Amino acid sequence: MVTYELPPCDSPNLALLHPTQEEKVKIWKLNGASWSGTMSLPVYIRREITLENQAFTKDGGITFWVLVDSSLPPNERPILGSCESLRKRALVARTGKLEDAVSHGIGSVFCNPDYRGRGYAQRMMDELGKKLNTWNQHNGKRTDFTVLYSDIGKRFYSRSGWEAFPSSHIALPPVSSEKETALSGARILRADDLDDLCSMDEKLLRADIVRDVPSNKVRVALIPDLETMQWHHAREEFAGKEMLGRMPDIKGAHADCEDGSQAWCIWTRTFGSTEAGNTLNILRFFIEGGNVRDESETKDDFTESSSIDQAKLHGIAAVLHAAQVEAASWDMKDVQIWNPSRLIVLAARQIEPSTELIHRADESIASLRWHGDPEDRAKVEWVGNEKYAWC
Ligand SMILES: CC(C)(COP(=O)(O)OP(=O)(O)OC[C@H]1O[C@@H](n2cnc3c(N)ncnc32)[C@H](O)[C@@H]1OP(=O)(O)O)[C@@H](O)C(=O)NCCC(=O)NCCS
Repeated sequence: MVTYELPPCDSPNLALLHPTQEEKVKIWKLNGASWSGTMSLPVYIRREITLENQAFTKDGGITFWVLVDSSLPPNERPILGSCESLRKRALVARTGKLEDAVSHGIGSVFCNPDYRGRGYAQRMMDELGKKLNTWNQHNGKRTDFTVLYSDIGKRFYSRSGWEAFPSSHIALPPVSSEKETALSGARILRADDLDDLCSMDEKLLRADIVRDVPSNKVRVALIPDLETMQWHHAREEFAGKEMLGRMPDIKGAHADCEDGSQAWCIWTRTFGSTEAGNTLNILRFFIEGGNVRDESETKDDFTESSSIDQAKLHGIAAVLHAAQVEAASWDMKDVQIWNPSRLIVLAARQIEPSTELIHRADESIASLRWHGDPEDRAKVEWVGNEKYAWC
């Protein structure tokens, strides 16, 4: 048997390359032990293959990366680290100027248990940062920003440039649909409803994000488009059908507010959690005329400020209530809304007065690397830092 001495993590032979199909399966077999939950390994591998063949991911939308010794041939080299990047449509707004951009979300960062603690994962992230500076960009453009969600605290990724951003959520309990309540006014959304809503959301986001950008700010957002939502839904539909024999076909809820504006949300469910239970996650919460966030929201200041608030709160509460009813019908432990705006927290407290904003310290830490001019890093404001941006 050939023995191979593992190289040091700073070896010049190490490179970030792409795995073969055989290597991808090897990686899924290993990382399935961490991430398959209650799914069997063959089902988990089929889910991963399903997810790489969505409109969002196929044709180069997803890129698989491996840290390997580049002097060794494919399929015979130890995989020292692995991860994925998913191409995402994005916006970058500066004073009076809005640009479309290509961003990336990073996921599935993994190191074989046999090779851990040798610095390979950190080296992989350093190499990935350099690759993503130009990956999938056109005409020599440099990437503006990329994102990831850390489940291992803030330090590891920040050392490679992905800095922690606000990562809070509120959780509401499931409620039974038996009673007609004052909050029953929302209508449910199905897959066919989402195209129009996502288009409207994008149109208004484009207008909102560039409005009154101060000269000391760069606002960035990932676009909450249909293909992004469909990728999340492919994940829940695969799991629902495989594990429960049931199709999760209600995708969100919509309500009209008293001022004639609309509020809606699009959600997805997690299945197969081995922990406390499954969650109905709000991917995107849209409030017409109420989506622009102000700085007070990061300071936990949730006082009502105007009659505009009052006119919208009932509609928002109706949408939240519909999510609670849906969570109950799937036996979920809660409904979670990431980085909720002030109006969402106020509406949630109308339903559940004890609703608290939870600031996560270790899990699902929204992290952003600014690839542009380092002088701009401190100016970055992440708009739409919601669950839809996760991957
Ligand atoms: C997380 C993981 C990729 C780290 O791989 P690794 O090759 O052992 O990491 P490195 O040796 O490059 O570690 C670099 C630094 O990160 C720290 N680190 C490693 N794993 C960590 C963890 N789980 N939590 C917090 N810090 C961690 C190390 O202590 C080290 O810090 P030091 O230099 O101050 O000692 C690996 O443990 C893994 O695959 N875990 C299971 C999957 C997972 O959790 N992935 C991350 C999802 S966000």
